[in-house]
Amino acid sequence: MNHLIAPSLLSADFGNLKHEIELINRSSADWFHLDIMDGVFVPNISFGFPVISYINKYAEKPLDVHLMIVQPERYIKDFKNAGADILSVHYEAVTHLHRTVYAIKNEGMKAGVVLNPHTNVMLLEDIIKDVDLVLLMSVNPGFGGQKFIENTYVKIEKLKELIISSNSKALIEVDGGVNLENAGNLVKAGADVLVAGNAIFKSGDILQTIDEMKKV
Ligand code: DX5
Ligand code: ZN
Repeated sequence: MNHLIAPSLLSADFGNLKHEIELINRSSADWFHLDIMDGVFVPNISFGFPVISYINKYAEKPLDVHLMIVQPERYIKDFKNAGADILSVHYEAVTHLHRTVYAIKNEGMKAGVVLNPHTNVMLLEDIIKDVDLVLLMSVNPGFGGQKFIENTYVKIEKLKELIISSNSKALIEVDGGVNLENAGNLVKAGADVLVAGNAIFKSGDILQTIDEMKKV
């Protein structure tokens, strides 16, 4: 499978959001990545349902929603109603992960699990067959524009082995500090989906950067 690109709108110009969405529609990107932060799970607050619904109104590609919130199971239906196609919850934020994964799937969405940089991929051994996607954080979540953590490559390789040996269909997504310099190595290591915020929206030429990231 060719790798997918998911631009993170956190780094978009919110004063021109409609224009940014239309650019991504026209680009070779595959998904819209939306970062939802509650100021409790992470030390930052981003945006909520009215903004997601607005993005959904104009976006012509799937919405990949990354929840950085405590008790995400309380809001699964609300994210579905706002337009989420893929809903990912943090391993560190959920007590009953199996129940939450199936609650997401029962709403007709793809279910993802996110791991913080310190969380061992082998903790997913008993859930890997049930999830559609694993999102590996390659920075500590909360902010765009941070430095990529190199240990992520080893985690991708370990996760890939776990997925293959378990006969799982889960995609591997990488998020944080992804740019044109490391994108090729991440794909080589086994990443299926690359999230990028700053590297795309602050690049000066959004369409060309996405094209280049798609071709690595
Ligand atoms: C960080 C978010 C990321 C962020 C990535 O908590 O999960 O999606 O927007 O931004 P960059 O690509 O700038 O590191
Ligand atoms: Zn994210």
